[in-house]
Amino acid sequence: MRKNIVAGNWKMNLSWSEANSLSEELEKSLSDKKVNCEVYNFVPAIYLKSLIDSASNITIGAQNGYPKDAGAYTGEISMKQLKNIGTKAILIGHSERRQLFSESDVFLREKVDEATRQDLKIFFCCGETLAQRESGNFEGVVIQQLENSLFHLSENDFKKVVIAYEPIWAIGTGKTATPEQANEMHKNIRQAIVEKYNQEIAEDTTILYGGSCNPTNAKDLFSKSDIDGGLIGGASLKAEDFISIINTF
Ligand code: PGA
Repeated sequence: MRKNIVAGNWKMNLSWSEANSLSEELEKSLSDKKVNCEVYNFVPAIYLKSLIDSASNITIGAQNGYPKDAGAYTGEISMKQLKNIGTKAILIGHSERRQLFSESDVFLREKVDEATRQDLKIFFCCGETLAQRESGNFEGVVIQQLENSLFHLSENDFKKVVIAYEPIWAIGTGKTATPEQANEMHKNIRQAIVEKYNQEIAEDTTILYGGSCNPTNAKDLFSKSDIDGGLIGGASLKAEDFISIINTF
């Protein structure tokens, strides 16, 4: 059975005191009440160690990591270092990394391989631009992203991966994909997993939706057959909103 997951992506937001109080508030709400999904937060690297040490109901993940063990890579943090301080999960392929930092499919594949070596749980993001959606071939674009950077993994390694479908035109824009549009793409992704791996692995793969997901639209999105939760940007920065999305399950 696949797991339902709600994951926050804080991006480059929150001061340390804001991050700390948000975490405390979330931990308190989550310990007061049973939740029916796993909860992750992808936080800025400088907050990782402290939040990992204080977390009990939330799994803390990194937003980025460099795919080399050590060496002359000024400013970078290796996945080995992330693992060494207790990081459990990592985001790979987010559209902001692809677009603003020119991360190519080839580089993302290296990151996927290194995360696998370090046994970090991969949350692999994929999604099309507005122009690609309007051109009609958006399904092909998304499947190609998976083929180029993820589908070379062995069955055993792939089983640990979570996929996040995030149409770029919906990220931070307030424009959500309709539950039908999102579910359609999730079904396509699952079918591609059937073709690459097998039916059982496809059924067990958690596929999240991301892109302006909020307390108002989460229920309709998460009630769809192939949407197993969300990767939440803006709405993960407010405890009340994030908890309300978590409680959708
Ligand atoms: P958003 O971001 O919820 O603010 O649209 C989602 C993401 O980029 O992961």
